[in-house]
Amino acid sequence: MCGIVGYIGTRNCVPVILEGLRRLEYRGYDSAGIALVRDKEFFIQKKAGKVSNLAAALGEAEGTVFATLGMGHTRWATHGEPSDINAHPHWDQKKRIALVHNGIVENYQAIKTKLLRDGHTFLGATDTEVLAHLVGVMYDECRDLPTAVRLALSEVDGTYGLVVIAKDDPGRIVAARKGSPLLIGVGDGENFIASDASAIVEHTRKVVYLDDGEVADITTSGVRTMTIDDVTVEKPIHQVTLELSQIERGGYDHFMLKEIHEQPETILNAMRGRLLVEEGDVKLGGLQNIIGRLLSARRLILTACGTSWHAALVGEYMFEQIARIPTEVEYASEFRYRDPIVNIDDVVFLISQSGETADTLSALRDAKTKGATVLGIVNVVGSSIARESDGGVYAHAGPEIGVASTKAFTSQLTVLALITILLARVRGMSRERGQVLARELATLPDKVQTILKETEKIRKIAEEFKDAKNFLYLGRGANFPVALEGALKLKEISYIHAEGYPAAEMKHGPIALIDENMPVVFIVPKDGIYDKVVSNIQEVRARRGRIIAVANEDDTDIDELAEFVIRVPRTYGFFGPILNIIPLQLLAYYIAVARGTNVDQPRNLAKSVTVE
Ligand code: M6R
Repeated sequence: MCGIVGYIGTRNCVPVILEGLRRLEYRGYDSAGIALVRDKEFFIQKKAGKVSNLAAALGEAEGTVFATLGMGHTRWATHGEPSDINAHPHWDQKKRIALVHNGIVENYQAIKTKLLRDGHTFLGATDTEVLAHLVGVMYDECRDLPTAVRLALSEVDGTYGLVVIAKDDPGRIVAARKGSPLLIGVGDGENFIASDASAIVEHTRKVVYLDDGEVADITTSGVRTMTIDDVTVEKPIHQVTLELSQIERGGYDHFMLKEIHEQPETILNAMRGRLLVEEGDVKLGGLQNIIGRLLSARRLILTACGTSWHAALVGEYMFEQIARIPTEVEYASEFRYRDPIVNIDDVVFLISQSGETADTLSALRDAKTKGATVLGIVNVVGSSIARESDGGVYAHAGPEIGVASTKAFTSQLTVLALITILLARVRGMSRERGQVLARELATLPDKVQTILKETEKIRKIAEEFKDAKNFLYLGRGANFPVALEGALKLKEISYIHAEGYPAAEMKHGPIALIDENMPVVFIVPKDGIYDKVVSNIQEVRARRGRIIAVANEDDTDIDELAEFVIRVPRTYGFFGPILNIIPLQLLAYYIAVARGTNVDQPRNLAKSVTVE
């Protein structure tokens, strides 16, 4: 989704901002812009399309533009098409202030109507331009930028991560946050503002996270943080541990491929120091203080969006089958508006890679208001969900740059498996049983490594099916969510229509689609329902569907049934999804590559969905 990076200091900010915008490209966007202040005048350049267009328009190669105050933005269109005009930054009526904005001004139409009546003219169709005009009006009245921003925001409904500069006050950047992340990078004689630490981490690791309702007045010498009502807020400085190498491609063609291949390591990282194999137990520091509430919970609710919701579905199998706790799963976007019955003895888990997904964050707040304990399973350290939760467990997958989530998913599943063992042990599971589960979990990184050796075979299967119009993914039990996730990966990056179903549901409708052109991916491990899934395979064969099976290494029967077989090592049923998704990630990846799509930044998608 939209990205922001800004700088105030003594060096030329143009390369800082352009590089920052490049680091934010993964979030998904469709236009980019920059505003600089030089000799008390604005220099603004905005372009539809990629940051490279903007850099070319700026003459980056010649390095002729110099400024020590500026800000840049990547826009993911909501109000108004992606175009040069609609790109940020936007000016006010008198072109005295410039503003970039992530989020949505919900009452922009009412504000615009009033401003039109007062003689304002608007160039584009965005809600942000209206906000820029409103800040400009306030600035005319009070001649103080932080005050102008606070006054304007007191009239705004909606969400924002906002950065404003004024050409006649080149000594400051003013930023404000409500519902859209912003952090201040603290430097030596220079300061930064960004929507994501990756944009500034090569310059400073010291950051201040803005919270909702806060405004920051940033100068070269310091930062003053206040509420919208001008009450000073003291903010702690955090240390970001992100390494630059983690946000670079490291020799891989795409971030997605790099992230798929990182999974032996990231799964291990999710368990490191937490899985106690000899004790048959798990230690999770982020749950220590609320373990009592987890023990007495009558019900667990898992809520999330997209891939994280698929992880939640697998979590439901784990929690119910092993820990024997009643568990419900719900889309966060539905949870927040359904006014669900949430009791104070419910524990609600919010699962999110980014920790910034607007729907998931709102579900958290709703559940909290209703008195439930809210726990995050989050990847991005310091993100909003992580900070607003009562406790939780980080996924520790490292930065995930590819828009299609891969390593975050398997880390989420690993964390859910850890929580399952923890819950089962505190609820009476024997140490011996705990040891058996812990030992098996510890083998998974090596087993993922084994699956990655199937890459060449999977690439050939991808070649065979790259022109397919539709795909069906079928699995049962904990592998039904794997079918959903496999289908989601394929549609996100290859734009092939794909659906996931519980295998047995096929005969209730989707079977009508099966003919010799329909590839059907079966996830068919040798478990208690293997024979049932084989019956479903037979039903597809009878209708000449083309079968790709993800099956266990020692399954000798499957070769007779499937046209293509991808082998995965055996594991316990509820851990199976951690392995079985890997070939499906690779299949989607190689099909997308064969079709020539933009794998890391697929059309219309954003990495972190910070609007409803
Ligand atoms: O950051 P989150 O995990 O909260 O994001 C949720 C979804 O937006 C995300 O999983 C999305 O579905 C991905 N593009 C999946 O690949």
